[in-house]
Amino acid sequence: MSAESAAAPTSEFSHPNLEVMYTAEQINARIKELGHEITREYAGKDLVLVGVLKGSCIFMADLMREIDLNLTIDFMSVSSYKDQTRSTGDVEILKDLSNPIRDKHVIVVEDIIDTGLTLHRLLEILDSRGAASIKLAAFLDKPEPRVKTEVKIDYTGFVIPNQFVVGYGLDAAGRYRNLPFIAIVKDPSAA
Ligand code: IMP
Ligand code: MG
Repeated sequence: MSAESAAAPTSEFSHPNLEVMYTAEQINARIKELGHEITREYAGKDLVLVGVLKGSCIFMADLMREIDLNLTIDFMSVSSYKDQTRSTGDVEILKDLSNPIRDKHVIVVEDIIDTGLTLHRLLEILDSRGAASIKLAAFLDKPEPRVKTEVKIDYTGFVIPNQFVVGYGLDAAGRYRNLPFIAIVKDPSAA
C-alpha cells in the first residue's frame, strides 16, 4: 500500500475538539516549583501523600518525583453522588487508605477542586483519624463554582476559569486522561 492511499493516522493528542490550555512544559515547570515548596516545608517530617483516584494519578506521579524527602504514598478512591452533573456532597469510599495516618503529616493530592463538596467531605473523614496535619494539593483550582468556600488549597498548580478541562489525569466520561497537557473540550456534546 502506498503512503498516499494509507488512511490518515488518528491522533488523540491532536484531536480537533481540543484546545490546549497548559502545555506539558508549562505543567512541568509549575510542578517543579510546587515540589520545591513542599520539600522546604516538610523537611524532617513524617510525610504521606494521599492521592485521590483516578484523576490525581499523573499529578501524583510527577509531584512526588519533585519532593526530595523521605515520604510514603497511599491512595483513596471515592465516588461523589451527583445530581445530574452537580456534586451533592455525599461521598462513598470505594477504596480506603492501606495504612493508618495517625501522627503523620498528610498532603491530599487532588486533580481539581470545583464545587469543593467531594473534598470537603473527604477531609472531614480524614480529620477524624488523628493525623498530625492535613494539607491539600490540587493541580487545578476552578473557584467560580465553589460551594464549600471554606476548603483551603495549600498547594495549587493553576487557577482556571469555569470551563470543563481534560488531560493530565482529568477525564470526560473516562476519556482523555492520557493527554500530556490540559485542554478545553471545545464541543462537550461531541466528546
Ligand atoms: P467537586 O469539587 O465535588 O465538584 O468535584 C470535583 C471532581 O469533579 C473532580 O475531582 C473531578 O473528578 C470532577 N471535575 C470537576 N471539574 C472538572 C473538569 O473541568 N474536568 C474534569 N473533571 C472535573
Ligand atoms: Mg476527582
